[in-house]
Amino acid sequence: MDVKEITPDKLNVKEFIAGQVESLKKTVGNGLAVNALSGGVDSSVVTMLGHQALGDRLRTYFICNGIMREGEPEYVGAVFEKLGVRVEMVHAEDVFFAALRGLTDPEEKREAITQTFYKNVFGRLVRESGAKYLLQGTNWTDVEETVAGVKRQHNILEQLGIDTEREFGYKVLEPVLQLRKTGIRMVGKAVGLPEEICNRPPFPGPALAARVIGEVTPERVAVVRKATAIVEAELRKSGAFQYLAVLHNDKVTGMRNGRREFGMQIEVRCWESKDAITATVTRLGFDKLEKLGERITSEVEGVVSVVYNVTAKPPSTIEAV
Ligand code: XMP
Repeated sequence: MDVKEITPDKLNVKEFIAGQVESLKKTVGNGLAVNALSGGVDSSVVTMLGHQALGDRLRTYFICNGIMREGEPEYVGAVFEKLGVRVEMVHAEDVFFAALRGLTDPEEKREAITQTFYKNVFGRLVRESGAKYLLQGTNWTDVEETVAGVKRQHNILEQLGIDTEREFGYKVLEPVLQLRKTGIRMVGKAVGLPEEICNRPPFPGPALAARVIGEVTPERVAVVRKATAIVEAELRKSGAFQYLAVLHNDKVTGMRNGRREFGMQIEVRCWESKDAITATVTRLGFDKLEKLGERITSEVEGVVSVVYNVTAKPPSTIEAV
């Protein structure tokens, strides 16, 4: 690869933005580009850079894949409406769940999401719009982890030798490729993104599917979605790098209303980290842990057990899948 990382101390935000806007204008010319906005800081920054460079010649889509967090499409739609950026909602829930049906292997699940996203959903949108370019928020950490063979990040294609033009019919442009999260957040502030978007904890491309061990079905995603909402509400003020809920595949015996209930188990993870490459466990107070256990078992139907992960990365990874 001939591109190099730009570290935060070397990042001139103004110059970076001007350079990327210019480069997008030059590459896309009078043509059309599309991009997927997930509401994370990476894709939000790319949306703003693309919007500045291309205006209406950038079509921004929010892909409803069925594996997003609670209220996510509504929240992201509202933030960008305020910024004057039109976001089209694309309903592709059934397509993603059909592709995930029966899969339990982590890499196979990630691959199914990648293929569905790039080939089916975006392939169709690109064909219908006539666009030749897809803008996306791949960052330096994504590239590094994939090339190192840690985990196949769902947005890495060209770096692995995949010719997107031949395979999917469009070229991928990656304006924030040279930056890690800190740099991307600096650019985010400068392009007018609200604080809340710039400082959101990271969220993975494969969304809640990265937190469901075993088969990813609508029912199982609904369980982890509810648990995630509780974990996020309880830990938002913890100052931790990232916090999440994982649905286990094993069932455990519990009891409710004096009767045996063979139910589900949720794992809570809360991480201290600077760059997600290594991470340690947040030393949450016991009262908080107990509250998480109480809330999740009483508010998420079918869950009878909650555990806290006490492993560092490595050997763990931040997400479970
Ligand atoms: P892991 O689980 O590899 O995660 O320790 C490292 C960081 O990356 C996020 N993550 C992803 N981000 N696409 C992304 O854009 C992905 O496929 C993906 N998988 C994990 C994870 O949330 C953590 O911050």
